[in-house]
Amino acid sequence: MNLLITGGAGFIGSHLVRFFVNKYPEYRIINLDALTYAGNLSNLRDIESKQNYTFIRGDVCDFGKMCDLFRKHRIDGVIHLAAESHVDRSISDPFTFARTNVMGTLSLLQAAKQYWNGDWQDKRFHHISTDEVYGALALDKPEGDPPYGSEFFRETTKYNPHSPYSASKAASDHFVRAYHDTYGMPTLVTNCSNNYGPYQFPEKLIPLCISNILLGKPLPIYGKGENVRDWLYVEDHARAIDLIFHRGNTGDTYNIGGFDERKNIDVVRLLISTVDRLLGRPEGMSQHLITYVTNRAGHDLRYAIDSSKLRDELGWQPSTRFENGLETTVRWYLDNQAWLDNITSGAYMQYHAEAYRPR
Ligand code: NAD
Ligand code: DAU
Repeated sequence: MNLLITGGAGFIGSHLVRFFVNKYPEYRIINLDALTYAGNLSNLRDIESKQNYTFIRGDVCDFGKMCDLFRKHRIDGVIHLAAESHVDRSISDPFTFARTNVMGTLSLLQAAKQYWNGDWQDKRFHHISTDEVYGALALDKPEGDPPYGSEFFRETTKYNPHSPYSASKAASDHFVRAYHDTYGMPTLVTNCSNNYGPYQFPEKLIPLCISNILLGKPLPIYGKGENVRDWLYVEDHARAIDLIFHRGNTGDTYNIGGFDERKNIDVVRLLISTVDRLLGRPEGMSQHLITYVTNRAGHDLRYAIDSSKLRDELGWQPSTRFENGLETTVRWYLDNQAWLDNITSGAYMQYHAEAYRPR
């Protein structure tokens, strides 16, 4: 198997690349990443010299380059993660999201189609998408223990995206399914809930708050902090992708979720107590950093995934409880403050220059 993973220098991609490189020494793993601000080759230092791993810098929108890459590396399988992924950035810069997420996915699909040329035997195109394509759920049981509502996103839930990010991911999902239905390409689409864990870029809620608690900076909470997200530890996502890529029914969609709904404010309070405890600070010392700020435009109220199809068909379920995963994550950021500092100072971009070295 010559497996192309796109976006492998990002958060989820780097976990997935590491997982596949270690688990499948007989595969050749080709990591294609443009190294935007979100890509960071230091996420992969521990596996970069493995025999079965190759990094290539490239833009998925570069159709000619994608065609060359399929030919040169005789690609049989694709797991496509490369994307612009941050909702707030999509609100200020929607064009970049349409370009990468829609045109980039289309370029990759077309390159795969041309190279495979109708021979679908042992081929797979697995597109990594998000629960945000389904829109937002009601928060009709806001008090007490989760779940905070009576409805869940299922594979049959109608698409109803609200942000430029989710609209671009929805469009890309439609293109992937169209390549299955029109040309017979063996595709898979997975829609996953919020991931967290080591190596997440500190613009997303959890790493941003860890970084700000460390620095004693304000923790910006959009609106009242009542919005609900369904959190999944990133390594559980990687296990799910592995299962679905190898054993899922082509043409199908699978939802992946943590069955672990949390209000944002509860996540931030737990982060504060975890960071302060691990640093030996007095309990509650950083509570005053909580700062309510203007709500995100079009802010989806609640996400909650029903991943029972994946459980029933392939036997997957999340293995990491949120409290445990969050503590592991906080410990990782405390032990890897140089990683964070490299991002805040911009020094991590030096790896981008190094990545140009011809191999
Ligand atoms: P990320 O922003 O951390 O990483 C994205 C990676 O894609 C980066 O390495 C970046 O350099 C690369 N990239 C961006 N544009 C590119 C282009 N034009 N060509 C090649 N590479 C490019 O994102 P993430 O959080 O790891 O998410 C990865 C995928 O998973 C995305 O498709 C996202 O929509 C999806 N997803 C994310 C989550 C989540 O909670 N983070 C949940 C569900 C689905
Ligand atoms: O649901 C899956 C999605 O999860 C992925 O598709 C996206 O790529 C990923 O970024 C994530 O989207 P969210 O918008 O849910 O994640 P984010 O970490 O940006 O925000 C989580 C929640 O916290 C959300 O309700 C907005 C809120 N928030 C976020 C930030 C950055 C704040 O209150 N303050 C903040 O500063």
